[in-house]
Amino acid sequence: EEEAVPPSQKWSFAGPFGKYDRGALQRGLKVYKEVCSACHSLNYIAFRNIADPGGPGFSVAQAAALAAEYKIKDGPNDQGEMFERPGRPADYFPAPFPNDQAARAANGGGLPPDLSLITKARSYERGFPKFIFDFFTQFQEQGPNYVSALLQGFETNPPAGVTLPDGSYYNKYFPGHAIKMPPPLSDGQVTFDDGSPATVAQYAQDVTTFLMWAAEPHMEDRKRLGLQVFVFLIIFAGLMYFTKKKVWADAH
Ligand code: HEM
Repeated sequence: EEEAVPPSQKWSFAGPFGKYDRGALQRGLKVYKEVCSACHSLNYIAFRNIADPGGPGFSVAQAAALAAEYKIKDGPNDQGEMFERPGRPADYFPAPFPNDQAARAANGGGLPPDLSLITKARSYERGFPKFIFDFFTQFQEQGPNYVSALLQGFETNPPAGVTLPDGSYYNKYFPGHAIKMPPPLSDGQVTFDDGSPATVAQYAQDVTTFLMWAAEPHMEDRKRLGLQVFVFLIIFAGLMYFTKKKVWADAH
């Protein structure tokens, strides 16, 4: 049976004027931290990044406070020993497992992928556009649509006739349906202090927005520059048109 097509969602970061929803980024960080980080690393994000422009909008002090909640392995020291110390803003999110073997051993043989670039990876692999139109409109949203759908696509009762391998779970959107990730989200699991609903749908939306930012932290800059380039080119093309008319005015 084919996997279901992830529904297209409205993302604030979509389109040429797209921006990240700061609230969603902050809530999504909380979901990653309290849920996903038990199994998934986020290797390319440092604590200081959450205070970067175009990101979740935390202060430098808040980034330092988050870092300090973590124990970071460091060393060797002068005695040649490894040791642990509180995190600093320049540290990266620590991985939950020391290596892939340990990660697989804890997950029934499945390897939880690093989530830093997952929204991009799944855009290319799962959502390759069938039409040129898709390419310009939805391409960058395919990954987020998939990740969000995946998180909401678990079914406790697989369709009749489907037997799952040991340690696998049924997911409507996962290719092949049998995924080694247990349903990670349930209602009420994470508490938001901005009054947003404590629902799986909200968690999925927010953590996906956060992971989109993790994969493309400079998106807002990129889009801003792109627009400036377009404005410049339009003005420049006009100037060139009149210049050309003037330079060639006497030509016969
Ligand atoms: C796979 C997201 C929590 C274990 C994945 C994939 C994504 C993902 C996007 C890749 C699916 C694919 O290959 O297309 C998340 C998010 C989480 C979360 C956003 C938090 C909300 C967890 C937790 C665990 C876990 C808590 C462990 C208890 C795994 C494993 C896989 C996986 C083992 C590999 C599945 C396979 O290849 O069969 N996850 N995950 N995940 N996740 Fe998670």
